[in-house]
This record gives sequence, C-alpha cells and structure tokens, in this order.
Amino acid sequence: MAQVKSGFVLWFTGLSGSGKTTLSLEIEKRLKNIGIPYVQRLDGDVVRKELTRDLGFSKADRDENIRRVGFVAKLLSDNGIPTLCAFISPYKDVRNEIRQKCSNFIEIFVYCPLKTLIERDPKGLYKKALDGEIKGFTGIDDPYEPPENPEITIDTSVESVDDEVEKIISYITKKDLLEM
Ligand code: ADX
Repeated sequence: MAQVKSGFVLWFTGLSGSGKTTLSLEIEKRLKNIGIPYVQRLDGDVVRKELTRDLGFSKADRDENIRRVGFVAKLLSDNGIPTLCAFISPYKDVRNEIRQKCSNFIEIFVYCPLKTLIERDPKGLYKKALDGEIKGFTGIDDPYEPPENPEITIDTSVESVDDEVEKIISYITKKDLLEM
C-alpha cells in the first residue's frame, strides 16, 4: 500500500479540451488503486457551478476563480490530501501566487496544439468561438500564458494517457511525496 508522505497540489493548466480533466481523473484512479484513501479533485466545469458560480471569464473573474480554488487546494493539501486541480488558469501571475502559498505545488502544463483542439472540440466550444458566438474564448480571442517553468509538461496530442500518468506518479514519488 502506498502512503502520502506530504500533501501536494497537482495543478493542471492548459487550454479547454487539452485533457486536464481526463488526466486528473486517471491520476485520481491510480492513487486510489495504490491505496491512497483520500484524494480530492477540483475541476473548472464543476467548481464554476458551485464555489465560483458568480464569476465569468474576464481576467478579474478568472483570477478570482483561481484564487478561491487555490485557497481550498492549500487547505486540503496542508492536511495531507493530494489535491488535483484542473483549470485553464490562463494567467501566470495568479498561478505563481498559488504556487507561493502552497507547500508542494506541482504545475503540470497540459499542452495540445490548437489545431488538434479545434479538430477534437468535444463540447463544440471552439466552433462557437470561431463563429463569434462565444466571445473571449481562451486560445481564440483571449490569452493563454503558458507556464515558464512547469514541473511537468505533457503533450496530449502525442503521449498516451498511461504514459502521462506514469510520468506524474514517478515525479511525485521521486520528490518523496509518495511512498510506494
Ligand atoms: S479559468 O480560465 O477560470 O481557469 P475554468 O477552467 O474555470 O477557466 O473553466 C473553463 C471552462 O469553462 C471551459 O472548459 C469551458 O467549458 C467553459 N467556458 C465558457 N466560456 C469560456 C471562455 N470564454 N473561455 C474559456 N472557457 C470557457
């Protein structure tokens, strides 16, 4: 049975549809399979219906979204709970603000070329953004600032989900956050 030696935050950042949710679900599954009883996932699409339902997609609102989530993530991870956050989180300053506040903050840049995202488009949002039906859509007519020094970078257009999970689990094990 694996054990958590110290709580940590896995922060998945990247464009909509890049694979943040898929990856965080797989990591959650893996951690539970190796015997970690408590794992908390926080996901933009869910959190925005509850904790941050008053917020939209202006820069100020996105930053506020991330600040609130960062606060919750810190509380959980300080209590030893691995916390997986999947948010576009397009602005680097607020991501770095959360990094400063959390003890074990691991930024995972979930990259996928825009061309592939537009082809995948499972929620049909890129089409709407390109047609001008949604304004201020990240990657189309709203900025995304890639992390400058992420702990882990993943290209979901070339790597398999299994390989990505291995990469992340071996990173947290090497950092002595997880004991196998
Ligand atoms: S963040 O920018 O504040 O980090 P968050 O991850 O919570 O965003 O929410 C992103 C999700 O909101 C997207 O996956 C998409 O389903 C939806 N969404 C609605 N409008 C937008 C928009 N203008 N830009 C990006 N995502 C949007």
